[in-house]
Amino acid sequence: MKVLVTGGAGYIGTHCLVELIKAGITPVVYDNLCNASLESLARVERISGQAVAFVQGDIRDPDALTALFKAHRFDAVLHLAGLKAVGESVAKPLEYYDNNVVGTLRLLEAMTAQGCVNLVFSSSATVYGDPQALPIDEEQPIGATTNPYGTSKYQIERMLADWACATPDARVIALRYFNPVGAHPSGLIGEDPKGIPNNLMPYVQQVAAGKLQRLSVYGDDYDTADGTGVRDYLHVVDLAQGHLAALRKLTTMAAGKTAVNLGTGIGLSVLQLVRAFEAACGASLNYQVVARRPGDIAACYADPAHAQEWLGWRAQLGLPQMCEDAWRWQSSNPSGYADT
Ligand SMILES: NC(=O)c1ccc[n+]([C@@H]2O[C@H](COP(=O)([O-])OP(=O)(O)OC[C@H]3O[C@@H](n4cnc5c(N)ncnc54)[C@H](O)[C@@H]3O)[C@@H](O)[C@H]2O)c1
Repeated sequence: MKVLVTGGAGYIGTHCLVELIKAGITPVVYDNLCNASLESLARVERISGQAVAFVQGDIRDPDALTALFKAHRFDAVLHLAGLKAVGESVAKPLEYYDNNVVGTLRLLEAMTAQGCVNLVFSSSATVYGDPQALPIDEEQPIGATTNPYGTSKYQIERMLADWACATPDARVIALRYFNPVGAHPSGLIGEDPKGIPNNLMPYVQQVAAGKLQRLSVYGDDYDTADGTGVRDYLHVVDLAQGHLAALRKLTTMAAGKTAVNLGTGIGLSVLQLVRAFEAACGASLNYQVVARRPGDIAACYADPAHAQEWLGWRAQLGLPQMCEDAWRWQSSNPSGYADT
């Protein structure tokens, strides 16, 4: 099986590559490197003991995509390429709609033209907006998004549903990730944010490494066990294995589009994550409780039953493993891939 991995040089993409190669699947990475470096692929090669085919290009470039699909006969596409910073999407909405929505449109055009109609897409729990009930299952309405990033994922999901309806034999799985964290246990690949991290775990990692002074915990008066926000943190290796399960499912599922949550189903608070990270790194973390952030919700965690029943996938790795692996990556690569 040969699979195109758009955005394959990024955080989640590199972990997917490791699992694909382990399973005997041949990936071809297509990435414009706007948020990644070639070193990440060199690290995947070190872990896997295999060369990884790479083409530098943008998903919005129709000519480059046509050349790519003519050069390879892909059985499926894992579409991870996209911009993902919520705050940046509020400041630069058009960039997000152009990159994420228009980019996916161009990719679908190229796939249709070349008769490759099997797709696994990186969606996000942000498509649910403020959830109506917990845990969140796939039947909950989507679209009441709270930022352009989330809206771009919602619009893409709608476009995929319409495309799957109109395209004979098209098979699409939208994976709605909850909160991917951690790193490969080798410590060779992990999340390498540019500038100040947007997400909690990389921020915590950099506080532990002394690169950032203090963590701000936004609110401890939510209606949760310890008052801090609750999220569904998921080990990135589990997430990558979810992609493998989805790729396998493409070969047996009925034509059409299906959405699947990828989460553990366990809600963990900010303070629980901080305590677990302190245990992993052997030091206490400097943090301060500050006011709530506008737009943040109290709790968000998945109902993972559909993934278990339909994909045969469930998360295996717990919070201690997430923190230990994140710390191994951070402490052995204090400046990320730039250390090389
Ligand atoms: N990390 C998360 O918390 C999270 C949660 C939910 C969904 N997602 C989605 O998963 C996907 C992967 O996320 P990630 O955390 O690995 O992010 P990442 O930024 O590390 O990886 C995305 C990759 O896509 C590439 N890319 C971006 N725009 C491109 C374009 N126009 N053409 C070609 N390549 C392009 C980047 O260079 C990068 O290598 C994204 O679509 C993201 O929205 C991520």
